[in-house]
Amino acid sequence: MSTATLDMPTKPKPRTDPTLAGRAAPAERVALDRLVFTGFMGSGKTSVGSIIADRLGWRFLDLDHEIELRHNRTVPQIFAESGEAHFRHLESATLASLLGQRHVVLALGGGAPEELGNRLLLEQTPHTAVVYLSAPFATLLDRCNEQAIDPAATARPNLADLTAAERRFHLRRTHYERIAAHTIDTSSLSLEETADAVLELLRAVDQ
Ligand code: S3P
Repeated sequence: MSTATLDMPTKPKPRTDPTLAGRAAPAERVALDRLVFTGFMGSGKTSVGSIIADRLGWRFLDLDHEIELRHNRTVPQIFAESGEAHFRHLESATLASLLGQRHVVLALGGGAPEELGNRLLLEQTPHTAVVYLSAPFATLLDRCNEQAIDPAATARPNLADLTAAERRFHLRRTHYERIAAHTIDTSSLSLEETADAVLELLRAVDQ
């Protein structure tokens, strides 16, 4: 990997933590088939989504990771070799196919809700709750930069130009809020605390 790639803010790999499995609440406690996490880069969609999936005993799916598996190229490779528009096309097709599954927790990429078709699909998929993990831009950037020192993480092409990234952040917030049934302000929460807040919310909705 080149130095330039190592210096670029990155994202965590999807993880499964077997130690959390024992604390799983039965999946049938949640009157939903799918839980979808949205939010900007660095909001914790992948990490929190993995924790929640472990606790519910559901399958965790990371949209970026699924695109990479299906097309045998990393997200940065797709951006560099085929452009963002092509990535968005693959992203929409992959999202549509993943939403057919039940008992899944799905972490979207930060840009997926920019596409109208993706927003409509999420809104129209039954028994599906979207949770928006929010935080200020500076906090998100700090988190992305912290992840950047993890060589196992994947680089984020849309953080290469920070002015453009901040513009996207402001544009996307409305989309995140509109598609989400619940918003959690993660600014002062750890990943575990965020996961606790999500489960609390689901339990409250369930009652
Ligand atoms: C992107 C976010 C990334 C990934 C791609 C583009 C974006 O996902 O889909 O690099 O435009 O915000 P994460 O939000 O999981 O980092």
